[in-house]
Amino acid sequence: PVGAPTDVEAKKITKVGVLGAGLMASQFALLFARRLGVPVVITDVDQARVDAGVERIRSSVDELLAKKRVSPDDANRIKALVSGSVSYDAFADADWVIEAVFEEMSVKQDVFRKIEQVIAPDAILATNTSSLSVSEMGSVLSDPSRLVGFHFFNPVAVMPLLEVVRTEQTSDETLATALAVAKTLKKTAIITADQPGFVVNRVLARVLGEAMRGVEEGTPFATVAEGAAPLGLPMSPFELLELVGLPVGAHVLDSHHAEWPERFYPGDGLKRIAEHGAILTRDKKGAVTGYDP
Ligand code: CAA
Repeated sequence: PVGAPTDVEAKKITKVGVLGAGLMASQFALLFARRLGVPVVITDVDQARVDAGVERIRSSVDELLAKKRVSPDDANRIKALVSGSVSYDAFADADWVIEAVFEEMSVKQDVFRKIEQVIAPDAILATNTSSLSVSEMGSVLSDPSRLVGFHFFNPVAVMPLLEVVRTEQTSDETLATALAVAKTLKKTAIITADQPGFVVNRVLARVLGEAMRGVEEGTPFATVAEGAAPLGLPMSPFELLELVGLPVGAHVLDSHHAEWPERFYPGDGLKRIAEHGAILTRDKKGAVTGYDP
């Protein structure tokens, strides 16, 4: 049942919990604090990661202040709203909890299983997964109707789109709340079915995979990038892979390949490049070349 519910009221959000304090998690934690104006707690597996996440958010607020995107008062207000904790107990009074932990089904399910013991019975759970099945993730919950996919794009602050993934179990209230939250964050939400890769990564994995395949079959990086230019993407497929993160990109390609081996290119070449550190290099004349896997 994909489609917006009509007359169900969204739940009011008074506190947000973010599971994970990595790059993407801290970007959207900042967005929640800034746009929803409610306390936001981030958690991770150890204090060092939590502290790094909070610190990253604070520096991003300073950057917004330097660009005069927020007033000094707002900057202080946003900073005061964000805190970190290694304990899930900090989520006890959150009504919206979103996860951005490692993109592996068992890890996400484990986190949700534990979180459901702590949070209020009517708190909503969201996942920022980019390609895992949201229904399968929710199968460990005693109330899977409270789970919805809420998939941001990199860079979170800039990209206007958000995929809201509705499973067969997602309740109308959960969906209505997700849509209301997206609107407050000033994102354009599209509601997608719980299908592998949803909408965006289905398309992107094909483009990025074919770009990688082109290189591995012998066409130079710069030529593939030039050839992809008519698609009108704001950056070349390789720059986009670097922006998304090479291990994440490889993971996305792999999961699509596992689902449809004939249609999607696997992430093997990208994993070898990830070990090297970066795709794009430049030759002596400054022209873009690439790391040859
Ligand atoms: N974080 C925060 N802000 C950023 C940023 C970042 N990483 N990168 C750029 N910006 C901001 C800049 O600060 C700038 O803001 P101001 O106007 O306030 O100065 C604005 O964005 C424009 O930046 P630039 O002028 O430097 O650069 P640009 O015009 O070339 O745009 C871009 C940069 C927005 C990244 C653009 O190239 C773009 O849209 N690229 C495509 C990104 C994309 O397709 N993302 C989806 C990836 S797929 C994914 O995320 C899904 C997944 O599950 C794997």
